Amino acid sequence: MDKINIAIDGPAAAGKSTIAKRVAAALNMIYVDTGAMYRAITFAHLNNKEIPFNELVNQLEIKLINEKGQRVLLNDEDITDRIRENDITENVSFVASQPEVRAFLVELQQMMTRDKGVVMDGRDIGTTVIPDAELKVYMIASVEERANRRLLDNESRGIASSYDQLIADISERDHLDMTRDISPLTKAEDAVSIDTTGLSIEHVTDKILSLAEERL
Ligand code: C5P
Repeated sequence: MDKINIAIDGPAAAGKSTIAKRVAAALNMIYVDTGAMYRAITFAHLNNKEIPFNELVNQLEIKLINEKGQRVLLNDEDITDRIRENDITENVSFVASQPEVRAFLVELQQMMTRDKGVVMDGRDIGTTVIPDAELKVYMIASVEERANRRLLDNESRGIASSYDQLIADISERDHLDMTRDISPLTKAEDAVSIDTTGLSIEHVTDKILSLAEERL
């Protein structure tokens, strides 16, 4: 069987990582959460605001370890749970708009996908990181549904949040991600759009698996 890469892009909290993890497990592929990588650099930036981004990225080693879901290590420190907290979420779109940060991470992500067999989710995967991916999915959902899903997710992680605040935060992050100068969030021309509003995780996973089977 030939190896393929699968790119899953879409706005904040559209369910990309939940689905991408399941697709990767079902196809025995490697899952890569690129949002976690931008969050890791945001964590480093908030701790070292005086260091310019071009210097900061050279001091960082980011590792994604597939254990208990996916663990995120920054210079060998496990920051998996820390990077889901509100201060990181509030600052990540600013950090992700920095050219030095994007250049650093896109190169790393392209190395990770070189040998194929990767399901990668993010904002610019189908357009910039792996424009030759065999399958590209653009996943959307209504902002109300995304806020509800994030509310439940935050509850399970013990992170305080309110529905109205989540609507505002998600809308703001989408706006920043869609209007930034470098590789803004947009659907790749050849991506398959899936609106997950009202659909179960299983339904969306099966839909992507059947699209992947056609390409394997
Ligand atoms: O996927 P997640 O919501 O964790 O991503 C956090 C942020 O990282 C996004 O809002 C976006 O600003 C940035 N990001 C990006 N490009 C990617 C993945 C994430 O700019 N490929």
